[in-house]
Amino acid sequence: LSEEDQQVLTANDWLMKLYHHLLKYTKDGKEGYQYLKDRGISDEALEDFQIGYAPNIKDFTLEFLTKKGFSKQLLVKNGILSAQNDHDVIDRFRGRVIFPIRNAIGKTVGFVGRALHDGVEPKYLNSPEGGLFQKSKILFNFDLAKKHIRKENEVILFEGSVDVISAYQNGLKNVVATLGTALTESQAKLLNRYVETVVLCYDGDDAGLNAAYKASQLLRSVGCEIRIAKMDPSDDPDSFIRSNGMEAFQNRIIRTSDTYMTFYMRYFRRDYNLKVEGDRIAYIEKVLKELSMIESTLEREYYVQELHKEFNLSHESLMTQLQSYRNNQQ
Ligand code: CTP
Ligand code: MN
Ligand code: MN
Ligand code: MN
Ligand code: MN
Repeated sequence: LSEEDQQVLTANDWLMKLYHHLLKYTKDGKEGYQYLKDRGISDEALEDFQIGYAPNIKDFTLEFLTKKGFSKQLLVKNGILSAQNDHDVIDRFRGRVIFPIRNAIGKTVGFVGRALHDGVEPKYLNSPEGGLFQKSKILFNFDLAKKHIRKENEVILFEGSVDVISAYQNGLKNVVATLGTALTESQAKLLNRYVETVVLCYDGDDAGLNAAYKASQLLRSVGCEIRIAKMDPSDDPDSFIRSNGMEAFQNRIIRTSDTYMTFYMRYFRRDYNLKVEGDRIAYIEKVLKELSMIESTLEREYYVQELHKEFNLSHESLMTQLQSYRNNQQ
């Protein structure tokens, strides 16, 4: 680690502690604390994640950290402050609830700040990319989740940090999230080194569904087994857990998550009008092509049977078509 990176880590650590203290014990932090309580975040989770609050004061952080001997230039560089123009800087996260972002060995390398009120744009603000903080390589909560991931040989991947916190505080601990971006290859490879199975549990809306499809392709390409959870369009993991509890989340969402092929069929159905003959055939062909790439004979047979039942096509003709796709691959 360079001297400068070391300083950034030290500054981040101070800040994390300061913001956390402000949240818990000061009048300034009350609004942030109340916001988190209203969202059902427990006191234990406030500790586990060292959640904090950055007061809505322009130069609060600058004052605090320069008194500790850090240079303004360093703090602009690590993104704690943002430059307004040549002379002025401003606290980037002012007025927001702060979630520290730790790397795989538990060092705080950046922050996410969430606005306290809906309608404030942007809703989430991240530390800027660079140096120690590379969003594409970090998974939120990986450091705490690691041992649980190993034990369960399974990891649950969410869209949002609040989804992770919500699950974790309710006892589901093998959970991580990307930081508001699509899953990257290096994150997928990281997961593949630790587990066999990744359960994708993205938001139920269209954005979540599309992101889950992309992530499923990437995870398979690096060799992960995957399952994909189903959620109502209006739900995300946090909202589901809050309204239905952890037991329901485990039973109705995680345990009943789809296999890759079932998800694939569900995903592409949306593009076809299965009442129209031409569409029906195109859809069946698309599914058979995907099936032809599956190695397990048993699995192929299983989904052929599904198609056979649903579309009333002979088992034989489906198998013949499937086999011709398989031959073409060689
Ligand atoms: N995100 C972001 N900017 C936004 C919205 C989301 O950076 N305007 C990132 C955040 O990291 C967030 C993740 O994307 O954790 C998932 O987004 P989303 O599911 O839309 O977050 P919400 O569930 O809407 O957030 P909340 O529950 O706090 O309202
Ligand atoms: Mn504390
Ligand atoms: Mn979303
Ligand atoms: Mn969400
Ligand atoms: Mn949410």
